[in-house]
Amino acid sequence: MENLATQHARVLSGMRPTGRLHLGHYHGVLKNWVELQHQYQCFFFVADWHALTTHYDDPSIIPPSVHDMVIDWLAAGVNPGEATLFIQSRVPEHAELHLLLSMITPLGWLERVPSYKDQQEKLKGKDLATYGFLGYPLLQSADILIYRAGLVPVGEDQVAHVELTREVARRFNHLYGRETGFEEKAEAAMKKMGKKNARLYANYRKAWQEQGDEEALAAARALLESQQNISLADRDRLFGYLEGGGKMILPEPQALLTKASKMPGLDGQKMSKSYGNTIPLNADPKTVERQLRTMPTDPARVRRTDPGDPEKCPVWQFHQVYSDEGVQQWAREGCRSAGIGCIECKQPVIDAVLAELKPIQARAAEYEKDPDLVRNIINEGCERAREEARATMDEVRHVMSLAYR
Ligand code: TRP
Ligand code: SF4
Repeated sequence: MENLATQHARVLSGMRPTGRLHLGHYHGVLKNWVELQHQYQCFFFVADWHALTTHYDDPSIIPPSVHDMVIDWLAAGVNPGEATLFIQSRVPEHAELHLLLSMITPLGWLERVPSYKDQQEKLKGKDLATYGFLGYPLLQSADILIYRAGLVPVGEDQVAHVELTREVARRFNHLYGRETGFEEKAEAAMKKMGKKNARLYANYRKAWQEQGDEEALAAARALLESQQNISLADRDRLFGYLEGGGKMILPEPQALLTKASKMPGLDGQKMSKSYGNTIPLNADPKTVERQLRTMPTDPARVRRTDPGDPEKCPVWQFHQVYSDEGVQQWAREGCRSAGIGCIECKQPVIDAVLAELKPIQARAAEYEKDPDLVRNIINEGCERAREEARATMDEVRHVMSLAYR
């Protein structure tokens, strides 16, 4: 059993390969990954099976997207020396865990995940009344649990999937986490915390189990987290005992909510491929310059002498992402007083976007030139991921009475 400290230090996240990444991904996700890789043990993967759940009728777009996406990650600064990068389908253990978890997952839990109905509504042209699509969030649970990840950086739309993962993990631990003499061992572990803490823990546990007191549960967990002088195995037992089940085999992960990206698109709406307002990471600088030059501004500024309102201008949103306070003040005041023209106002933004893209594109070019290097990075990542996945599956098979081969 792995210790909790490591579990909490482990980060896992995935992305579906559905085309080239743009500045919205960079500001919303990739910069965050780059930060996390310095702080935690990170696993980042391409969720190609998840892409198949919605693109099963045209899977041929998946392989080029997988390749491009890994290049975009690397170009954005995700470092294969720090983070493990891999492809979901290359670690088939994910599928095995998905299958085994499906045995214990009530159908209603999946039907109630909001994205199930929402996406069916949104992608009306596709038949998503499939078994695979219903299982989408459970496959995601398997992705997370197989690495015993503690933290899962995701956007708002994915939080329900992490919640489901927690419930599935809890159910799994409850069903299969019983070791012989578990209760006695848990009681003994409790005493090792010292009289006062043992009493606190017992009271919290009672309040949670008998009255469903969530605050007591949280307090008990915090108490366990803070214990320095009990062994990790004992701590895991006490976590399990709290929930009434047994030992914790698959730890419950937490969503690490990524703040919604403030990155606006060229029209001021959120940058998204479906709005056709993106700046792709591999965009040609000349095109980017032209697009920014021609992007709409406050419609009130018909003539250069008409004053404007930055709040009504998408360029202002770019200033908020890219410009320091001095430049922002210059733009704000110049706009309101008609002291500057829109082309003038856009120039610092154009410079900043190009400066941001430049090193990204330079790195991308290096990797594009060297397909073997990229292949090696992925191969190594897949191997490393697979080792972790195998270790979890050994334990899972064991507790599910499948270790007889
Ligand atoms: N469903 C996620 C998305 O669409 C991608 C994903 C698949 C994922 N498995 C995951 C994200 C596991 C985090 C953890 O964005
Ligand atoms: Fe927008 Fe700047 Fe023009 Fe004002 S001056 S409308 S903020 S581009």
